[in-house]
Amino acid sequence: MEILAILVAAGRGERLGAGRPKAFIEVGGRSMLAWSAEAFEAVPAVDAIVVVVPEPERARARELLAHVTKLHAIVPGGERRQDSVRAGLAQVPKGFDGIVLVHDAARPFVERAVIEAVLQAARESGAALPVMPVVDTVKRVRDGRVVETVERSELFGAQTPQGFRLSCLTRAYAAADAAGLTVTDEAMALEGLGETVRAVPGSARNRKITTPDDLAWAEDVVRRGGLS
Ligand code: CTP
Ligand code: MG
Repeated sequence: MEILAILVAAGRGERLGAGRPKAFIEVGGRSMLAWSAEAFEAVPAVDAIVVVVPEPERARARELLAHVTKLHAIVPGGERRQDSVRAGLAQVPKGFDGIVLVHDAARPFVERAVIEAVLQAARESGAALPVMPVVDTVKRVRDGRVVETVERSELFGAQTPQGFRLSCLTRAYAAADAAGLTVTDEAMALEGLGETVRAVPGSARNRKITTPDDLAWAEDVVRRGGLS
């Protein structure tokens, strides 16, 4: 086994407000969890998939992913995203010395090209993630007043999958823990160590479903037949 994907799906989906964890919400008649698992199933380089879900949803996840042949484990997540990633990392087989890809199950339409670009860069450099340029003019605002306009050319939004050599990621997580740091993505833990994290082009389709508007967009993508 050389490439292992961890799908994190253990969040509460509070901003979506559907009353249940959002990875289990359907888009075009298929759960977001299934969409994202199938995306990794379809990439030949990916050997195994670990799925992290809320404890009460484990049986449901097993049903939804019964057809995913690369499924390695379904485990319960934790309070923070990084706790869920850690639960996934605990399933990595002993002696594994390859690349781990961590992906938000809430990005159901990730393309093969994005996954492969991250893999390639992570193989070369140890750590990589997909990014999208910020398109709006960005203001720093305090107490309802604009403080400044932030130079946009160097600003990018971080997507997933984020790819790492396992040794890189475990070292970074240990350091984040030791410092009592909460990180919102894996790359942030590495940045704290001064490690190089490569940025490769992400994609508009790889949008994270966060709000009801995002869900409406996702339904529209499927309806327009852009994806099967
Ligand atoms: N996630 C997780 N465990 C957590 C928190 C988040 O596995 N404790 C996962 C989510 O399931 C999601 C991804 O991390 O696939 C990105 O997080 P986010 O978009 O914030 O999802 P939620 O935390 O579920 O949503 P919200 O913040 O609106 O509650
Ligand atoms: Mg969240």
